[in-house]
Amino acid sequence: MNGRGGVAVAAFMTWWAMTAPLAAEDRALSIMADRCGACHGVTLDDRCVAGDCGERVRAIRPNPWDLVIPWMEALGCRLSAEDKAGLTGYLMARYGKTYPVRWERLDPVPEGWNVVSLKPFRNALYAGIEGAGSVVRLEGSAWRAALTTDFYTMYGLTEFRGRLFAGTNQPSAEIWSSADGVHWARAGRLPSEEHGVIALGRFRDALYAGTSRGRIYRSVDGATWTAAGTLVPSGENSFHNWVRFLVDFDGTLYAGVEGAGMFRSRDGRTWETVALRPGAPSGVRAAGLFGGALYVGTTAAGEVWRTSAGDRWTRVFASAAGDARGYVASFAVSGGALYAGIDGLVFRSPDGRRWEEVGHLTPFTIEAMAEFDDALYTGTALPSRAWVYRMTSTDSPKGGGAP
Ligand code: HEC
Repeated sequence: MNGRGGVAVAAFMTWWAMTAPLAAEDRALSIMADRCGACHGVTLDDRCVAGDCGERVRAIRPNPWDLVIPWMEALGCRLSAEDKAGLTGYLMARYGKTYPVRWERLDPVPEGWNVVSLKPFRNALYAGIEGAGSVVRLEGSAWRAALTTDFYTMYGLTEFRGRLFAGTNQPSAEIWSSADGVHWARAGRLPSEEHGVIALGRFRDALYAGTSRGRIYRSVDGATWTAAGTLVPSGENSFHNWVRFLVDFDGTLYAGVEGAGMFRSRDGRTWETVALRPGAPSGVRAAGLFGGALYVGTTAAGEVWRTSAGDRWTRVFASAAGDARGYVASFAVSGGALYAGIDGLVFRSPDGRRWEEVGHLTPFTIEAMAEFDDALYTGTALPSRAWVYRMTSTDSPKGGGAP
């Protein structure tokens, strides 16, 4: 650039700096008034700037708008490339939130609307999908179908005896497996009163399946399954009774049920209830092992509880009062830190006690997380889409922030 150009640019920048903020704001307000109000009202500094701000209203507040605006597009908000850039730039400058880590969105999952399982197997990453009954495999940044079925969901990707297993939900409960992740076959079937396998877990050389009516089954080969426990006596196939995890901790098998609490078994057959603490939320969804302790997440109030020996539970995290539902749906350990997916937020802890928010990836839930190739992967729901994010670069989880 020659000298005169530089002077002209400097003059332009001065003029722009004085006028552009207002112009950018006017433009952002007009885009929002025009585009955002179709689905919900929007307020900015307590003013209604789009749609009907009566019942269903969302506030412009600190948010990673560079992620949020693409969700709105996926949900059906129509924005030209120019409007999108202008609005995102304005919102990030005024109400932006950035994290000490970087999130990269992979290509959308081809079918289905929710990622409910993520599992590395033989140097590839696999995902179980809700809404399309498929298992997909990551190739580069794109997902390719590895298994496509007529079931509604594939849950519980688990490695057992060198094979990758998954369970089916709706209309019936089957167990499928693959030796290479690519060629799949049905391995076994649960009794016809069972409508879904929601969780799989390994315990003492056997594979366990938890169903949508609060029952447990056991198999040593993946083919023949025998009843191994009744956690919820009523035995209805209902969301409340979904067995969400089966985790071996310290030689005891722990099972969590969506609405009906936690149970454990030392022999894989007889079960006792586990009380976190009187008055604590009873539904549990996520379980994770970190630093020799077991962590579980509740389906209400955004609580994380921890036990070191199984006898005593300590609450180590609770969502801020007044926050959304606080649905703790996933845990993963990556780079020496524990991560929790709480509603659409990701929290990180170096020690299980101190937590910081490091991501906001969906207005709904993050039901699957896994570490793969030194990166953290998170599966989100954004009906009618499912997206997976990869946390690509990170500071030190101890805090402090690398340059
Ligand atoms: C096609 C429908 C639609 C349009 C248009 C739309 N949204 Fe949304 N928005 C949703 C849905 C669905 C949700 C998630 C459920 C909820 O929070 O109600 C949502 C949630 C939000 C949230 C809360 C996100 C969170 O988790 O913190 C914000 C903020 C938001 N929208 C802002 C906007 C803005 C700004 C625009 C215009 C650029 C916009 N929306 C346009 C459908 C839409």
